Amino acid sequence: MIEIKNLKKSFGSNLVWEDVNLDIHDGETLAIIGKSGCGKSVLMKHINALLTPDEGTVIVDGHDIFKLTYVDLRILRQRFGFLFQGAALFDSISAYENVAFPLRYFTKWKEDQIHKRVMECLDMVNLSNIGDKSTAELSGGMRKRVGLARAIVLEPDYLMYDEPTSGLDPETSDEINDLIIYMSESLKITSIVVTHDMHSVLRIADSAAFLDEQKLSWYGTIDELRISKHKRLLEFIKASEYQIG
Ligand SMILES: Nc1ncnc2c1ncn2[C@@H]1O[C@H](COP(=O)(O)OP(=O)(O)O)[C@@H](O)[C@H]1O
Ligand SMILES: [Mg+2]
Repeated sequence: MIEIKNLKKSFGSNLVWEDVNLDIHDGETLAIIGKSGCGKSVLMKHINALLTPDEGTVIVDGHDIFKLTYVDLRILRQRFGFLFQGAALFDSISAYENVAFPLRYFTKWKEDQIHKRVMECLDMVNLSNIGDKSTAELSGGMRKRVGLARAIVLEPDYLMYDEPTSGLDPETSDEINDLIIYMSESLKITSIVVTHDMHSVLRIADSAAFLDEQKLSWYGTIDELRISKHKRLLEFIKASEYQIG
């Protein structure tokens, strides 16, 4: 379980948000939503201590992550998979080597073990035939899938997705949405999805956290979201509908 407690973050005089309190339960898929620039990515980066807050803290399975030693933080980070915005692949190496990278970095596994796990993960994202291709040759949707294979390779408990469907056409977006559901259901991964794509939220999430006006403006289940009368949340959903046509 992840507990976000009284979190506040600013960059210089720019307050991103404050008073953010949020629990993420095991097995759930939480969507963090809100307009561009409202601080979704910044919030997600606090969850595995890539950024430090001005106030408040994040507790992962009982551990205050900002009080961990360097070694313990490194161990904790292995329990998080991260699909970065734009996938953030290494374009000078093959898709296979991108997925193998965390295993080479974090484990002392032998080549045949690495091979088995990389092929398993490429298979899970339906890319078992493209391993030797350079990632620069791949389409946007394929790049996201390689990024996803890399994110799950260490068998994380938590998987964080930053705008997994941005820049993709509706059909490819739905392939990614299906994979997010698959990872959550078959691997029992707790998922945190940053997105401004409401179509995706309604399809994949159990609950949603709406960042707006420098705070956590609304939080609830997707069933509650469907009937919410929160004015700014409704405006946001409406605007997002126009975006996806
Ligand atoms: N490393 C940083 N240094 C300074 N400002 C930042 C940094 N990262 C994000 N910001 C600012 O924090 C705000 C929230 O950014 P971000 O979380 O990326 O928004 P979102 O993901 O919701 O589009 C923006 O105003 C952005 O300019
Ligand atoms: Mg962002």
